[in-house]
Amino acid sequence: MARRLEALELVGVRACLRLHRPEDAAPAYALLAGCDEILRWLVWDGPAAVAELAEHYRHACSSGQGAPDLRLAIVERAGGALAGSLALRFEGHAGLGDVGYWVGLPFQRRGIGGEALLLAAHLAFAHLAADALEARVFVGNEASRRVLERAGFTLSHTSRGTTVKGGVRMREWRFVLLYGEWRRLGEGYRPRVETLRWVSAGEDDRLESAARPLPGG
Ligand SMILES: CC(C)(COP(=O)(O)OP(=O)(O)OC[C@H]1O[C@@H](n2cnc3c(N)ncnc32)[C@H](O)[C@@H]1OP(=O)(O)O)[C@@H](O)C(=O)NCCC(=O)NCCS
Repeated sequence: MARRLEALELVGVRACLRLHRPEDAAPAYALLAGCDEILRWLVWDGPAAVAELAEHYRHACSSGQGAPDLRLAIVERAGGALAGSLALRFEGHAGLGDVGYWVGLPFQRRGIGGEALLLAAHLAFAHLAADALEARVFVGNEASRRVLERAGFTLSHTSRGTTVKGGVRMREWRFVLLYGEWRRLGEGYRPRVETLRWVSAGEDDRLESAARPLPGG
């Protein structure tokens, strides 16, 4: 049965993940627009206007076959401010998720990006039945490499990549985390609170989701 995520909140120690809302556009734009320290590491060249981001965030959950594609706000737990953004996509392959993220400069190096990735892995493996997660990182992005490796991802290979930035074709590190590895490593990490509410497409039945049963869980 096709279903759509109506609400999602995963609460960690430093960071929370929830579905983006159009109101996130203004603070996200303030953090991202023209910020080369972030944009140099993204495939995307950044938003041209707040309205572009608002439109993007209006479609925070699109459901195809299998797992949904999600646009998630990274929120600083202490102050409740929007700190960044994380996308979790299952385009074309229900079991293989692709994760991408950024954290605004005022929020970096405080453990927020690292925990957002742990929360995303929990979401993908415990709730969305993912078999594997993948991240594509421009070679040299040591901060991203660090958070991925801390979350259990391993470097699968380096490729020429397909993205051209400033006229240069970017080489990419491909990082992968398999479900079995996540289970082996990640049992120590659980969100403090996890709320997911689904609606079935076509009907308005609300379904509370339970996490995939985990050993000891
Ligand atoms: C990658 C990113 C999301 C990390 O977010 P964050 O909130 O700073 O992450 P954390 O604080 O959890 O951890 C960052 C880690 O990277 C390390 N780090 C940061 N800058 C670094 C650098 N230039 N070289 C090496 N390590 C670096 C930090 O020391 C920390 O590791 P530690 O906890 O072991 O000390 C953030 O740096 C970012 O948005 N970068 C730009 C966009 C981007 O690269 N997105 C990913 C595209 S694949």
